[in-house]
Amino acid sequence: RPRLVIAIDGPAASGKGTVAKKLAEHLGVPYLDTGLLYRAVARDVEARGGELEDATAAVSAAQSIDAQSLCDPGLRGPLAGDKASIIAKIPAVRAALLDYQRNFAKSSAEGAVLDGRDIGTVVCPEADIKIFVTASDEARAQRRYLEHQGRGENVAYEVVLEDLRRRDARDRDRSVAPLEAAGDALHLDTTTLDADAAFAAVLALIAAQI
Ligand code: C5P
Repeated sequence: RPRLVIAIDGPAASGKGTVAKKLAEHLGVPYLDTGLLYRAVARDVEARGGELEDATAAVSAAQSIDAQSLCDPGLRGPLAGDKASIIAKIPAVRAALLDYQRNFAKSSAEGAVLDGRDIGTVVCPEADIKIFVTASDEARAQRRYLEHQGRGENVAYEVVLEDLRRRDARDRDRSVAPLEAAGDALHLDTTTLDADAAFAAVLALIAAQI
């Protein structure tokens, strides 16, 4: 098999993370969830008593991110995601996180899978395979809603939908590295697909490409 760097992008709760993780396991290559980087920066800024809009504080936090700082179950929730999208608008923060992501993409002789918002467009524009994963707003909100229910959290579906749309808009409308498909990305809509079906669809897309 050739060395493959695979870039998977898409909005929140599109299923990109699930597909990316399964794909990395299947190929036996390392996987980086780049959203964790932005989440960890927001966490560290606040832990140091700073404001999320403070570019200097955020850049300094971004410069000290390492693999260890990503191993924190507290980073996974929607509030951490929302905070991440605020610091993710700061161009110097994005620049400070580029080397970490590019080094990760080069770290294994077998290749790598990275997921995020700008992997195919900015981080790894030379990726061998780019996939842009989408799903309807309602399907994505329904997934998040069920995750909340599973954790015993009582959040209204409408609130979940509203939060998702606000975060997507922030990611899509920012001036640097906005959420968008690379021109050469393959598209996958997971609206009617469960995790297994989405993974099968991705394998089929890749098989057709290589
Ligand atoms: O993917 P996840 O939901 O963990 O991402 C959290 C936030 O981090 C996103 O809403 C986005 O603002 C930011 N992000 C980004 N670029 C990436 C990955 C995440 O701007 N490559």
